[in-house]
Amino acid sequence: MAMASNVSGKCAFVTGGASGIGAALATRMADQGAEVWIADRQIGPAEELADRLNNGSAGKAHAIELDARSYPSFERAVTEAVRRSGRIDYLFNNAGIGVGGEVDSYALDDWYDVIDVNLLGVVHGIQAVYPIMIGQHSGHIVNTASLAGLVTTVGQASYAATKHAVVAISKTLRVEAKRHGVQVSVLCPGVVRTPILTGGHYGRNDGVSDEQLLSRAESVRPISPDVFADRALRSVLRGKAIIVVPAWWKALWYLERLSPSLSMRAVNVMLHRIRQVDPPSTPPPIAEDAAQDGAGS
Ligand SMILES: NC(=O)c1ccc[n+]([C@@H]2O[C@H](COP(=O)([O-])OP(=O)(O)OC[C@H]3O[C@@H](n4cnc5c(N)ncnc54)[C@H](O)[C@@H]3O)[C@@H](O)[C@H]2O)c1
Repeated sequence: MAMASNVSGKCAFVTGGASGIGAALATRMADQGAEVWIADRQIGPAEELADRLNNGSAGKAHAIELDARSYPSFERAVTEAVRRSGRIDYLFNNAGIGVGGEVDSYALDDWYDVIDVNLLGVVHGIQAVYPIMIGQHSGHIVNTASLAGLVTTVGQASYAATKHAVVAISKTLRVEAKRHGVQVSVLCPGVVRTPILTGGHYGRNDGVSDEQLLSRAESVRPISPDVFADRALRSVLRGKAIIVVPAWWKALWYLERLSPSLSMRAVNVMLHRIRQVDPPSTPPPIAEDAAQDGAGS
């Protein structure tokens, strides 16, 4: 279905724009006549997408190298975009990685890596672009969180922590930013068929094979990034606050709000099933005194 074309001539800055959801958002915006900055650590794929869009879309595209984990990198990229395009109307704070596994298998870096990209990357985007939008007295910040930012999940504690934080930031900023004429939305995708399902670029999943992860994802009917972007952008343009796509995942969000304890019980059943099919690679530790008892008998 065609999206309202009021993004024509607007400037959008999309982090993680070289792959998956970011690439689909950038493509949809350019198709509707926007000028798009595809900002990503993967500059090669970003340039390829920009070339494709410059040769076939109604808009204009630029590729720019960005490491969202670094504020100076973000500031440099944003300064360049504003120097050449004059303004930023949409910031899609979308870059993200997945680090999967149960907490008992985590190394400290499994927390740091995901917090650096998924949380600090969003913070850096806001710090770099919000003042520009305040100066323009207009703009729209669209942060990508996840359904994992709304409900109880298992096997992705660090990821879910960052996504809950992104939802919290977005809700607060939405209320505060109104007086500056700046809108804020947060995208909460269910499951979308992108490389992140197996950890994605720069992410990882320990102890579970890609095949197992993909078969888990397929069992909950993932949608394509294009379908996601189309539906999500329609809600963004209507100024919605929390955007869950596909909509049927909202049932889990309702359950979480209705009864957090029931939601946790449901997730406990799910974890039990997952462990039966894919036993965790790290066995539960044997308590020290139990081990000594065993040695003495
Ligand atoms: N695919 C899903 O099912 C799903 C579900 C919920 C939320 N999300 C979220 O959607 C967003 C996009 O993910 P995707 O599914 O398209 O995955 P993806 O792996 O296809 O794309 C992520 C992009 O982010 C880029 N990136 C990673 N680290 C970066 C960094 N430090 N600086 C700049 N760019 C960086 C990657 O190079 C890649 O192009 C993420 O925030 C993810 O958490 C995805």
